Amino acid sequence: TLRGSFTRKAQKPNQSSNHGLQLQASYKVAILGAAGGIGQPLALLIKMSPLVSALNLYDIANVKGVAADLSHCNTPSQVLDFTGASEIGNCLKGVNVVVIPAGVPRKPGMTRDDLFNINANIVKTLVETVADSCPDAFIHIISNPVNSTVPIAAEVLKQKGVYDPKKLFGVTTLDVVRANTFVAEKKNLKLIDVDVPVIGGHAGITILPLLSKTKPSVSFTDEEVEQLTVRIQNAGTEVVEAKAGAGSATLSMAYAAARFVESSLRALDGDGDVYECSFVQSDLTDLPFFASRVKLGRKGIEAMIPSDLQGLSEYEEKALEALKPELKASIEKGIAFAQKQP
Ligand code: NAI
Repeated sequence: TLRGSFTRKAQKPNQSSNHGLQLQASYKVAILGAAGGIGQPLALLIKMSPLVSALNLYDIANVKGVAADLSHCNTPSQVLDFTGASEIGNCLKGVNVVVIPAGVPRKPGMTRDDLFNINANIVKTLVETVADSCPDAFIHIISNPVNSTVPIAAEVLKQKGVYDPKKLFGVTTLDVVRANTFVAEKKNLKLIDVDVPVIGGHAGITILPLLSKTKPSVSFTDEEVEQLTVRIQNAGTEVVEAKAGAGSATLSMAYAAARFVESSLRALDGDGDVYECSFVQSDLTDLPFFASRVKLGRKGIEAMIPSDLQGLSEYEEKALEALKPELKASIEKGIAFAQKQP
């Protein structure tokens, strides 16, 4: 469905506990940074997926216990742990989807770009190994700043000669999840029905919710548009401040990332009706990367949806033009970093 709902029906009591799941578990997923604030709850949510047969957890430390713990859940997937550079190759062998939440999160007062110096190197090194070990996998980049780490990943994959732009995704699902939640609250709508596309990038003003394209169709006053847009753009900072130094969004992020993984697995499994917003290589604007709704299929992105960018409100048109310089600079910063250090 368009809203890509991340829900599952409970089993009836008379079904056998372990084998009542309807779908065939056959996909292999790896999480790099699996012992972290996002990695752990994300691993739990993926462990619940009936589509997953193997869940490989990688981190530089503390991942053994996470895997031992999760492995006791009686869901189909087998959970294995991998620690450090010597084991990452085995972790990635034969994997269909690689999710990367490795890296440091924000503290109060920091922008996502402040994470660049540390996370750029982490993403570069990890994607080099992905290129060597499972070049055909869907790659989901969560590590911030996404506006730069996705271009870095693309450059690394190009240098390795295995770049497939249809399979590299910056995870912006949390922006959609937040937009859906805040709009439903504000307009008193049934949450499960609400779908707001979010385009641009994943930092501050580069996050642009297209409220005029909300489904079901709903009208907003100018004040509501301004208030909702700003809240969606600053929602990450809302969490960073509430956590007061203990990190950034982890639980809602894990939920959003699990939805994106589930959508990718459904697409790999042949579901012909899977749409998600993601920050990807794009020709919808003059920027080389751009977040928008894409149709997912067995080979990754099957189609872009150019009509999403047509018929925008005046507010959205202006905001789109205003975000481009910042997004362009973040993309170029990522590319320059990766090209400087082959
Ligand atoms: P965290 O610090 O709790 O966990 C990060 C994990 O990465 C740790 O377990 C650490 O050991 C691991 N790690 C560090 N270097 C590594 C390496 N070279 N290889 C493998 N693992 C490595 O951080 P948290 O809260 O899980 O956030 C992770 C990232 O996700 C941050 O960059 C954060 O900014 C980003 N994020 C992205 C969002 C999005 O919407 N795309 C939303 C929220 C956070």
